[in-house]
Amino acid sequence: MIKVIITPDAHTLAIAASQFIAGRLLRRPNLVLGLATGGTVIDLYSELVRRYKAGEIDFNHVTTFNLDEYVGLPPYHPQSYQTFMFKHLFSHINIPRSHIHLLNGMAQDTKRECRDYETAIAATGGIDLQILGIGRNGHIAFNEPGAKRNSRTRKVRLSDDTIAANGDGRFFKNSNVVPHEALSMGIETIMEAREILLLATGSGKSLAIKRALQEPPSDDLPASFLQTHPACTFILDREASSLLNNQQVTFEIISHERIRA
Ligand code: F6R
Repeated sequence: MIKVIITPDAHTLAIAASQFIAGRLLRRPNLVLGLATGGTVIDLYSELVRRYKAGEIDFNHVTTFNLDEYVGLPPYHPQSYQTFMFKHLFSHINIPRSHIHLLNGMAQDTKRECRDYETAIAATGGIDLQILGIGRNGHIAFNEPGAKRNSRTRKVRLSDDTIAANGDGRFFKNSNVVPHEALSMGIETIMEAREILLLATGSGKSLAIKRALQEPPSDDLPASFLQTHPACTFILDREASSLLNNQQVTFEIISHERIRA
């Protein structure tokens, strides 16, 4: 059953999520971490950087795999996910460059790029903790509605809703300049992580969160497949949790106090 932690606001959520990750890192210094990009994780990454600078956590032995990258954007393009990751996290911590794995959206042979990524994940022994955001259409990584439960890393088409969400001025200035394709870990790749932490903030995510937790798993809403994962936690702010029906017991609410750093 998915564990749910509800925090009052997005700032508290970032602190709670960083505490969760710090706890896993202290137990396992060579953690293999799956990472997401997007607005939701920006504050989380600044909290992780703060903890690193305060000497609380160390990334020297950590390995990372990012979920996805836009097809056709060079790695140093201002809107590439590689640029995002260095700007918000990697440039500020002591992770060795060779431990960072990002999909190459410029790869000529995308099938090979995706296959090699899966091989690299397997070679580390698999992802210990996968961080996820969620699209307002319920996507995880770029697994849009209709993506198969057994999908693996591959080239995908972004849905119109995702193109509109990412072209709203936060990242791309309008939807005409948002790439239409990406390389993305598949649902099966994500489900193989030993533990999953999904974060969601704001009322725009509340319907997707309700459906992910309270509707039967289906490819209409890819995040609903997480119900079948053995160790999945959602950290939500109050707005993202606002449509949950507490009478329908499909998840377990746990207190923030139970996150141990
Ligand atoms: C990003 C990713 C996406 C985002 C999701 C939420 O690597 O895989 O699934 O997590 O689109 O994005 P934000 O946080 O910008 O709302």
